[in-house]
Amino acid sequence: PVRVFRLLEVDTLVVTNAAGGLNPKFEVGDIMLIRDHINMPGFSGQNPLIGPNEDRFGVRFPPMSDAYDRDLRKIAHKTWKQVGEKRELQEGTYVMLAGPNFETVAESRLLQKLGADAVGMSTVPEVIVARHCGLRVFGFSLITNKVVMNYESLEKANHEEVLAAGKQAAQKLEQFVSILMSCIPPSHTAS
Ligand code: HPA
Repeated sequence: PVRVFRLLEVDTLVVTNAAGGLNPKFEVGDIMLIRDHINMPGFSGQNPLIGPNEDRFGVRFPPMSDAYDRDLRKIAHKTWKQVGEKRELQEGTYVMLAGPNFETVAESRLLQKLGADAVGMSTVPEVIVARHCGLRVFGFSLITNKVVMNYESLEKANHEEVLAAGKQAAQKLEQFVSILMSCIPPSHTAS
């Protein structure tokens, strides 16, 4: 689908997801702009670009150090005030695991030590394909739950709480995305 967007001359991909908060400062309902990602499935050989390179879309070895557009993140911080939320807009690193199970305590602690602020099961493959074919990318995570970090906790991640947090935040997210869309200039990098 991302390559179809490219062929349709879409220049910017906005990705969103639900994620568990690893950063202790995050609260349920927070929005985290994605500054960077960790492609955990990539460490074990699962990457959407595996196979012969499609030269008409991009190069064999695309950079990923600037995957999430800095200018759009700046604009997002500026427009956040218009959403009228008390909580500040967060920014951080999203780590993708394959799922579908939620993390163990040991895994969550490891991910936090690796520098991840939020964990989820999506988004990264689309971003890699989008950057490969020159789309500008902007993304954010809705923090739907706090990841369980200690063995004493009686909390357990579950899909229902993720859905409920999504529903609760829907209006705020809609408002944020529409304000943002009206402030985003056309991309000059896509060709
Ligand atoms: N872990 C992984 N994926 C998620 C989570 C989580 O805690 N919350 C929402 N998606």
